[in-house]
Amino acid sequence: MIKYLGSKRLLVPWIVETVGRCEGAHRVLDLFSGTARVGRALKAAGHRVHANDHNAYAHTLGACYVGADARVWRERAERLIAELDGLPGEPGWFTETYCERSRYLQPANGARVDAIRNRIAELSLEPELEAIALTSLMEAADRVDSTVGLQMAYLKQWAARSHQPLRLRVPEILEGPGASSCLDAAEAAERVEADLVYLDPPYNQHSYLGNYHVWESLVRWDRPEVYGVAMKRTDVRERGSDFNRRGRILPALVTVLDRIRARWLVVSFSDEGYVTLVELRELLARHGEVREASVEHPRHIGHKIGVYDLTGRRVGEPGHARNREHLFVVETGRIGGKSPSRAPKRTRKLAVMP
Ligand SMILES: C[S@@+](CC[C@H](N)C(=O)[O-])C[C@H]1O[C@@H](n2cnc3c(N)ncnc32)[C@H](O)[C@@H]1O
Repeated sequence: MIKYLGSKRLLVPWIVETVGRCEGAHRVLDLFSGTARVGRALKAAGHRVHANDHNAYAHTLGACYVGADARVWRERAERLIAELDGLPGEPGWFTETYCERSRYLQPANGARVDAIRNRIAELSLEPELEAIALTSLMEAADRVDSTVGLQMAYLKQWAARSHQPLRLRVPEILEGPGASSCLDAAEAAERVEADLVYLDPPYNQHSYLGNYHVWESLVRWDRPEVYGVAMKRTDVRERGSDFNRRGRILPALVTVLDRIRARWLVVSFSDEGYVTLVELRELLARHGEVREASVEHPRHIGHKIGVYDLTGRRVGEPGHARNREHLFVVETGRIGGKSPSRAPKRTRKLAVMP
């Protein structure tokens, strides 16, 4: 899976176990699905999952790992990806923008991306098969990129992995039904019926669209206008998320939580966000009894950015290397759309720690 800021890679078993303890939590909505690794793991554990994310590249990952049923798509996906992997490179907009005017990928790999992406567009595939092919391409490009896992910058010296040739692999899709959508969280919260909603929202200023704009352009294939050294899409400036704004995140969370009709809420949060843990506990307590647990977690390598200047001279100190990730579980008492009383309930510690 792609390198992703805030991805719950190390926490997936803990989250799956926690969801598994929530009685009757068959239908699960992963409201901010990102890489879809949490949704995929919940699907593998037998839940009926719906993955939602408002960015197109993340929706594609959700459509592949959660939405697509391997019984239907695996064989066709294998044939398609073998064909795409055999295409020779043909440099185009992607190569020029991300490999010549900037240096996210080596030009030879960029040319393969251009050729493969053009072929996917030509084939007018069914949405699930297209999502599988695009996921395969995104992951292949990610394995040979030259960044620290964020596309707000690329490395000054080519990363060692960028010299490897781009190779497609068939994504590990799962058998069984699932669904995905590309909606704002508030809309998905209202539209999608679920027994449990898992919420892993952004919690600070780092915009996912800004940090993964190359994947957004690769998936949309809309050859947007770009700006700056990082070659960001100009719509990064307009398509912000309220969850990345200090003054807006709390009301945005209130709206989303108020719209959810599920019996259970499971919320991932860190101690480094715009919303404090005290505020979050108070907010969640309006919806039912809150239980919580936390673990230490390594921070993204981004905490080291800015420590060295252009000549390699040390000019700063890295931030702390670990933070605490919290998991909150709320039983709302809402079943079949009934609202609970809004009186705040008390918070207690979760009995189970990872
Ligand atoms: C912390 S990441 C989720 C990481 C994910 N759980 C994983 O393990 O990969 C937050 C996600 O929320 C999405 N997002 C941000 N604002 C949103 C909004 N208003 N509605 C829906 N998704 C949003 C971002 O695109 C990002 O993928």
